[in-house]
Amino acid sequence: MVFPGPPQVGLSVSVRGLVRRFGQRSIIDRLDLDIRRGEFVALLGASGCGKSTLLRILADLDHEIEGKVFVSPRRGVAFQSPRLFPWKRVWSNVVAGLPRGGKRASANAALEEVGLTHRGDAWPKDLSGGEAQRASLARALVRNPDLLLLDEPFGALDALTRLKAQALVADLWQKHRQAVLLVTHDVEEALLLADRVLVMRNGVVAHEATVELPRPRTAGSAGFNRLRVQLLDWLGVGEWAAEPPKGAILDI
Ligand SMILES: Nc1ncnc2c1ncn2[C@@H]1O[C@H](COP(=O)(O)OP(=O)(O)OP(=O)(O)O)[C@@H](O)[C@H]1O
Ligand SMILES: [Mg+2]
Repeated sequence: MVFPGPPQVGLSVSVRGLVRRFGQRSIIDRLDLDIRRGEFVALLGASGCGKSTLLRILADLDHEIEGKVFVSPRRGVAFQSPRLFPWKRVWSNVVAGLPRGGKRASANAALEEVGLTHRGDAWPKDLSGGEAQRASLARALVRNPDLLLLDEPFGALDALTRLKAQALVADLWQKHRQAVLLVTHDVEEALLLADRVLVMRNGVVAHEATVELPRPRTAGSAGFNRLRVQLLDWLGVGEWAAEPPKGAILDI
């Protein structure tokens, strides 16, 4: 059961002893996690380790759990695929599920945040991949959340669009300072964006790295590379770390 409401003063998420089983397998196995208000946390982990499962639980979409989960009720969620309703225009997708009244104005405000005001009347099928992803982000922002749950929101984007989307999320966070939990496969993305990077393994948070690099960040500094190598090791792909990333990836 997910208990809504502020968990403890200063925390947007507080999880204790969380277990999620599928049949005989405990995908999440006595996991603990705290996210402070306004903190940007990135979550890494091998494919199939349970990252999306955890995010769905925090989004209150999965209740078959044991343990305690406290999560801020004002949360916005964006999934790896944008999941827009094809029969609703973009603006209408953004406010789907909101109570009546002032919907168009709310949609416009959220679309403006993601630079998509001009596509408000478009149909989802006419959006580019990056636009659809931004529409999905606008939908997550429309309730003015104090917690953003983002499940690989840049996963399907080409490299350039991905950089722009990363910069957008960094800007939004600088502006609003919501707590963010960003699931990603990309160690560099995690290090460019997050205050803290978690590695999920064997159903728990097996490692965490505090990222004290000053912002704006660029890839390639000694501190950046040290954390990168450490995280790749925890992900079990340490041998790939020998070659440092080529130049600056994102100047945010
Ligand atoms: N409803 C379900 N029923 C049975 N098994 C499930 C269900 N949902 C997820 N799983 C299994 O739980 C494991 C974790 O899935 P999850 O989607 O959380 O992984 P993930 O870490 O997000 O992986 P990826 O990085 O590939 O997105 C997988 O082995 C998956 O097959
Ligand atoms: Mg996943």
